[in-house]
Amino acid sequence: MTPLETLVAIESRVRTCQLCALADTRKNAVPGAGRPDADIMLIGEGPGYHENEQGLPFVGAAGKLLDELLAAIGLNREDVYITNVLKCRPPGNRDPQPEEIDACRAYLDRQIELIDPAVIVTLGRFSMARWFPGARISTIHGQPMRIGARMVVPMFHPAAALHQPKYRPMLHHDFKQLPGFIAQLQAESGTEGVAEQPPEQLSLL
Ligand code: URA
Repeated sequence: MTPLETLVAIESRVRTCQLCALADTRKNAVPGAGRPDADIMLIGEGPGYHENEQGLPFVGAAGKLLDELLAAIGLNREDVYITNVLKCRPPGNRDPQPEEIDACRAYLDRQIELIDPAVIVTLGRFSMARWFPGARISTIHGQPMRIGARMVVPMFHPAAALHQPKYRPMLHHDFKQLPGFIAQLQAESGTEGVAEQPPEQLSLL
């Protein structure tokens, strides 16, 4: 199987996954969506009401803000890959439980491996915890951590900025750094200026 076929296969496995009890309460699992060879992968917490209805990530109010943040750096959601730590909605949008995160972990591991993004943006504390266990988001947001050839950048969750407007300028500030991070990584690897090929078409739903 090519990496693209493997990614599509993972997405279909997610849609019928029975690895934890969230399978009993979900309407639609939400594997992820976007460009399979994206430079930027955004990882949120888990589907909410609208994502559970539609089977797509970040399609509610937080998703609208995410679209604005991407547009401010000249991108849209087809330019990036968006997924979540949990692929199924926790009832009532409660916090993900450790056993649910563990059950879903292999899906996210494989997605990261196959998409192989230059930059991973963690949105909120549950995706941050994977790379920055015990860290406080208010202290480390926007500060990239190098992991080999990749940067992982912790950011506030867009929903936090909807509830507390003071986080909105911080999110905008952190997003605006992303093109510079990509340019830095490309300069290091000698790939700057190389024209990108259009991605193969695939249905991510
Ligand atoms: N919040 C998330 O963390 N993920 C979504 O897909 C939607 C809202």
